[in-house]
Amino acid sequence: MSVEVRAGGRLERTLPRDAYLAPEHFAREKEWIFCREWVCVGREDELAAPGDYVVKDVTGESILIVRTQEGGLRAHYNVCRHRGSQLVPDCGAGHFAGGIRCPYHSWTYTLEGELRTAPFLEESDGLARSELSLHPVGVDTWGGFVFLQLTPDEAEARGRTLAAQLGAVPERLRRYPLAELRVARRITYEVQANWKVMLENYNECYHCGPVHPELCRLVPAFKQRGGSELDWERGIPHREGAWTFTASGTTNRLPFEGLDEDERIRHKGELVYPNFLLSLSAEHVAAFLVFPHGPDRTTIVNEFLFHPSEMAKADFDPVDAVEFWDLVNRQDWAICESVQRGMSSRVFRSGYYAPMESSSLDIRRYIAERLGGEG
Ligand SMILES: [Fe+2]
Repeated sequence: MSVEVRAGGRLERTLPRDAYLAPEHFAREKEWIFCREWVCVGREDELAAPGDYVVKDVTGESILIVRTQEGGLRAHYNVCRHRGSQLVPDCGAGHFAGGIRCPYHSWTYTLEGELRTAPFLEESDGLARSELSLHPVGVDTWGGFVFLQLTPDEAEARGRTLAAQLGAVPERLRRYPLAELRVARRITYEVQANWKVMLENYNECYHCGPVHPELCRLVPAFKQRGGSELDWERGIPHREGAWTFTASGTTNRLPFEGLDEDERIRHKGELVYPNFLLSLSAEHVAAFLVFPHGPDRTTIVNEFLFHPSEMAKADFDPVDAVEFWDLVNRQDWAICESVQRGMSSRVFRSGYYAPMESSSLDIRRYIAERLGGEG
């Protein structure tokens, strides 16, 4: 999987083209990654009150998340046990006044997913209520983010908790008040590229010099030596006088309370496979949720999170951060779409990772481990 490029140096091969192009490979990723791992789908405050619901799509599986009367979250496959009708027909949000009523024949479930009533049917008609609960989906939260797990019985048996998947991330980000933050702006991008191309792109800054001139003016370290000497643990410094991700490098918003000296002036980033990317500035956080729909189609939801104490101010305006991110995002998505088109050429077999793209080797390993080593 590698070729020598110089003494001690190696160019490692990427995954083969089929991993980025073949519908069969994508189907296996859906089953063995997106239906087995915890997938971030949004923010907990989308479900404020008991009875509130949202419907999210995870690689084609429609999932209904509800806030129960006790105040917890529950998630169910959006599929009536009677004839399979969707309980809520579209992605979106709403409120259940009582239980969850299927629009087809009015079978009605509790918010916890138990079948409560089926019109004109009794146990004596063969209606085994206890066996007709909605198919459950695991749901958990961290930092105000909601994560789903589509095979909860198996996950529980194997101890695959959200905490295990997040690993050291919560500890590294403990000073950021993530749970308190609120979404001030949300941009949804439809990108014609494989989800792994986008994660690989997020994983390295070798491309920052050529692709992101404005970003490199703000963060010169991103283009030095191909981004090979970035200290993500401590955070990446901005240019002299700049301290956050806006075109000017400053803003009128205050930094989050409780950050350490580095965090008040440096930029941090985290990638939690398979679909959750966080970029952290001192006064805002950009979260990227990655939703693949096919080998070459990916929706990216970019949420911009701020502290409520700043959002409450009369002159609050997130546009300085949002516009800067939108510029950088569009540069990224355009180059990812170019990669996808180029990979579909008949001559492309696989690519190479340079040493400064070494984090992307993680993706090769991650995919291989979960798809049985076949990549
Ligand atoms: Fe980029």
